[in-house]
Amino acid sequence: MKQLPTVTTEQLSAQRTVIARIAARNLLLGEQLAYVDTYGCQQNEADSEHLRAMLSGMGYVLTEDETAANVIVINTCAVREHAEQRVLGNVGHLVHSAKAGRRIVLCGCMAQKPDTREVILRSYRQVDLMFGPHELWRFPELLERSLNAPDGTKIIEARDIDGEQVEGLPALRSKGERAWLSIMYGCNNFCSYCIVPYVRGRERSRSKAAITAEYESLAAEGYSEVMLLGQNVNSYPEFPGLLRTLAAIDRRVKLSFRTSHPKDAGTELFRAMADSPNVDTLLHLPVQAGNDRVLSAMNRKYTSAEYIAKIRQAREIVPGIRFSTDIIVGFPGETDAEFEDTLRLVEAVRYEKLFTFIYSPRKGTPAAELPDNASRAEKQIRFDKLIALQKSIAATL
Ligand code: 5AD
Ligand code: SF4
Repeated sequence: MKQLPTVTTEQLSAQRTVIARIAARNLLLGEQLAYVDTYGCQQNEADSEHLRAMLSGMGYVLTEDETAANVIVINTCAVREHAEQRVLGNVGHLVHSAKAGRRIVLCGCMAQKPDTREVILRSYRQVDLMFGPHELWRFPELLERSLNAPDGTKIIEARDIDGEQVEGLPALRSKGERAWLSIMYGCNNFCSYCIVPYVRGRERSRSKAAITAEYESLAAEGYSEVMLLGQNVNSYPEFPGLLRTLAAIDRRVKLSFRTSHPKDAGTELFRAMADSPNVDTLLHLPVQAGNDRVLSAMNRKYTSAEYIAKIRQAREIVPGIRFSTDIIVGFPGETDAEFEDTLRLVEAVRYEKLFTFIYSPRKGTPAAELPDNASRAEKQIRFDKLIALQKSIAATL
């Protein structure tokens, strides 16, 4: 894995200075409220915990009431068009509650996607500050710039970089049972339909020491469940070893991880699961499709037979293992016959849970350039068939 530049402790401490400056200003202003809205994956949820910690350090009181907030942060997802539409609908609503001095911040994956950024600039003028995932640690500096600028000024920051190594950002976790713990960022797989590698950059892993220390403190704080996060946790160097080490720290903590790429999941991982009684036996192993031509066009790097062999192997090694998966219906060029292979695979594996999506073209990805003959209605019929099949399987589990 290529070593990416590290954000230095000096750079982070400069951000803390900004946090203190905003806190002093807010003290004079009286109670200032901030609202953070999160779309998309667990990685985004974890990023929002960092945003909340920074806002709270700045003296903002976190609120659930968007209309009352002085700072509204919308942490967005670009993985499918539907997610983008939901965000834009929400931003659209905010026009009606304009107030002086308020700042609307749109961050996350949509801000890193050039075509989406254009749409927001053109049609959603109420957004004051936009920044991509690489700028998360610079949020204090960017917000201060926006606060210092006259109302109506637009600030946009989305460096086109591979990513940086950041350690030591504070997190304000919700007080529930479960905590997220990021172990790596970015993705190098470039599945042909997926925008993630373009907006979240190249893979970079946190050090084992930093992860272990954070895990220990989460266990000490009393979280009963920790979920390790990464776009593809299996490409973390020696992931099975990490899993064993963390699981042994406190057997009372239930440990799970997301997401695994089937090409990198193997016997070492299954053995680590089997040997660690507190690792969740529900394995999320996204298959995406059951047809080999489609899998190859998706650049998934496994065949359906190889995938099923892995499932069989996991069942042999890990007692009580269950599976969940992601499936894309209607990838460009997928025929009805090819889709039937997905149904057959679902029948063979018998998943506990399916996350199903109709293919959504993402500008900038190779799949978005492929010819697509199936209509939306045809894709919907396939989608409904898949849901019906899963319902009948789930009823027998
Ligand atoms: N269209 C539909 N679904 C997608 N996913 C990723 N990109 C797309 C897309 N362009 C799905 C995949 C992935 C999940 C997080 O989202 O199934 O595993
Ligand atoms: Fe997207 Fe594939 Fe990376 Fe998952 S592994 S984030 S689907 S490119």
